[in-house]
Amino acid sequence: MSEPNIFADRMLSLGLARVSEQAAIAAAKLIGSGNEKAADQAAVDAMRTQLNLLDIAGVVVIGEGERDEAPMLYIGEEVGSGHGPAVDIALDPLEGTTLCAKDMPNALAVIAMGPRGSMLHAPDVYMDKLAIGPDYPTDVVTLDMSPSERVNALAKAKGVEPREIKVCVLERPRHEDMIAELRSTGAHIRLITDGDVAGIMHCADANRTNIDMYMGSGGAPEGVLAAAALKCMGGQMYGRLLFRNDDERGRAKKAGITDLDKIYTRDELVTRDVIFAATGVTDGSIVGGARWVDGYLETETILMRSKTGSVRHISYRQNNNL
Ligand code: FBP
Repeated sequence: MSEPNIFADRMLSLGLARVSEQAAIAAAKLIGSGNEKAADQAAVDAMRTQLNLLDIAGVVVIGEGERDEAPMLYIGEEVGSGHGPAVDIALDPLEGTTLCAKDMPNALAVIAMGPRGSMLHAPDVYMDKLAIGPDYPTDVVTLDMSPSERVNALAKAKGVEPREIKVCVLERPRHEDMIAELRSTGAHIRLITDGDVAGIMHCADANRTNIDMYMGSGGAPEGVLAAAALKCMGGQMYGRLLFRNDDERGRAKKAGITDLDKIYTRDELVTRDVIFAATGVTDGSIVGGARWVDGYLETETILMRSKTGSVRHISYRQNNNL
């Protein structure tokens, strides 16, 4: 007898690539427009339309916000045809709205899908994040270590001097002390203005990106998306939710989180096998951005399955005049 709710991730993943492609194409038309809202809205509309063509009974667990804040792709929205596997969906139709609006690198359309119950329902608060690539012993760096302890431990495990370690950090005033401490070890720092999903993905491909470690606080929803990517690519990640007020603590409780101080590992953020797709909006180090070539609009997508560790780079073009 066939299993009623099997997660047929192999074929579904190809559908997922179409979803991120269409979101990226919609946003790409607003690259450099200075209009973050319009770019985000275009990506949201396109992603939702494509998602609803998939034969899934999907629920958005990481989305555009709470139902009363976001009319589309809000947390809890049911998407897909309703016929097919019951799945959780984490998405960010335009990760790096400012990057797109200002035509800066690494704006992505991102989506991950797994069986129902496979992803942390992270509220829209900050998360303290730490990530490294594959091939290191478990817990070689932890969130409980200071930034300099992390650099020294990683350098030792890699067999290099601390000055040969490169750390990626979001450039924010809240990170100034951390950056100063990291610099005191001799480590080099890649500062990014936005887009920590790409920031964390860099760690999984250190030979190409030269980024060994990611640390600092950013959006918790982006943390779950990054964990899904690392589950496919390999690498360790830790995340701890950060709360600034009672409203934020309330959001966590509403999402079913009881231990507010918990440190989540990658596999606690994403507990089962997932599929992950990211399409470049602007050029970046993970995938190239959308571009117009001879009347066609071309995109590049990275499509991955954690079950097999398979990674596809899909280039797609569509007639821009249709
Ligand atoms: P948006 O696409 O929603 O603008 O998010 C971009 C981003 O840089 C994320 O990658 C990151 O997690 C978050 O914003 C950081 O938040 P903040 O700008 O408040 O520091």
